[in-house]
Amino acid sequence: MAEPFSWVPAGINTDVPSAARVYDFLLGGGHNFASDRMVGEKVLQILRDGRAIAASNRSFMRRAVLLMMEQGIDQFLDLGSGIPTVGNVHEIVQQQNPDAHVVYVDYDEVAVSHSQLLLEGDENAGVVQADMCRPQDVLAHPVVQDLIDFSRPVGLLMVAVLHFVSDEKGPAEVVARYLDAMPSGSLIALSHLTADFKPQEMGEVVEAMKHSRDPMYFRSLADFEPMFEGMEVLRPGVVPAPKWHPELGPAGEGGPEDVYVGVGRKP
Ligand SMILES: C[S@@+](CC[C@H](N)C(=O)[O-])C[C@H]1O[C@@H](n2cnc3c(N)ncnc32)[C@H](O)[C@@H]1O
Repeated sequence: MAEPFSWVPAGINTDVPSAARVYDFLLGGGHNFASDRMVGEKVLQILRDGRAIAASNRSFMRRAVLLMMEQGIDQFLDLGSGIPTVGNVHEIVQQQNPDAHVVYVDYDEVAVSHSQLLLEGDENAGVVQADMCRPQDVLAHPVVQDLIDFSRPVGLLMVAVLHFVSDEKGPAEVVARYLDAMPSGSLIALSHLTADFKPQEMGEVVEAMKHSRDPMYFRSLADFEPMFEGMEVLRPGVVPAPKWHPELGPAGEGGPEDVYVGVGRKP
């Protein structure tokens, strides 16, 4: 029988909270440490609807994947994939098409080791531990090269990860480098937290995350939209998550609108 904490990778500093584990806490998962839960509780004190915001982002991801599949995509590159929880991309995808390929990329040790455990024996899915802000390293990684055929359209996901990329690193630049590598017809899903609706509270969330491994950079709609540069944005455009294709599944309609989302096509 596995030991209770066998999922904790060796050498990890459990005192420093990480985005992957705080998000896991907000989604009700069990792969987080006391330091993560402290930050998570703080976030929930500031944002009473913090869990609903996390859930609305997660359900956008599901709808985006379903739409991509409807459009014929059968290979997915999920950057900043997080700790596997309910409704992971490979589960959504393989339920409909067992031959579809999925590669997860994250730099968090717990996210990667737990993904490895979950994917054991699945030849159509893999995980890479890497900084997604280094597109060349990610794209050249053997697991990516093995599972993704760049001569056919790819479903690229950067869901709730760009708000961990500082202006110096240039999130729009990072997206553009991946877009360059995608074949025509690829679909790209982006989501991003914003302080547009709750400036005071979101400022406090940024403060709470400051000393985690993943400081946050919330952005306005005007700052997020340019990240779709070079893509044809599919209808209904770049909108709060609950307004994006609610007909595809639960969207938390009427719920918090603090995550902007959109899906673009590479022409
Ligand atoms: C809020 S979670 C989102 C998980 C999943 N994409 C979702 O939306 O449900 C953000 C994830 O991005 C990862 N992350 C942040 N910056 C990253 C980077 N530069 N490279 C790789 N992963 C990163 C974190 O470790 C975390 O697991």
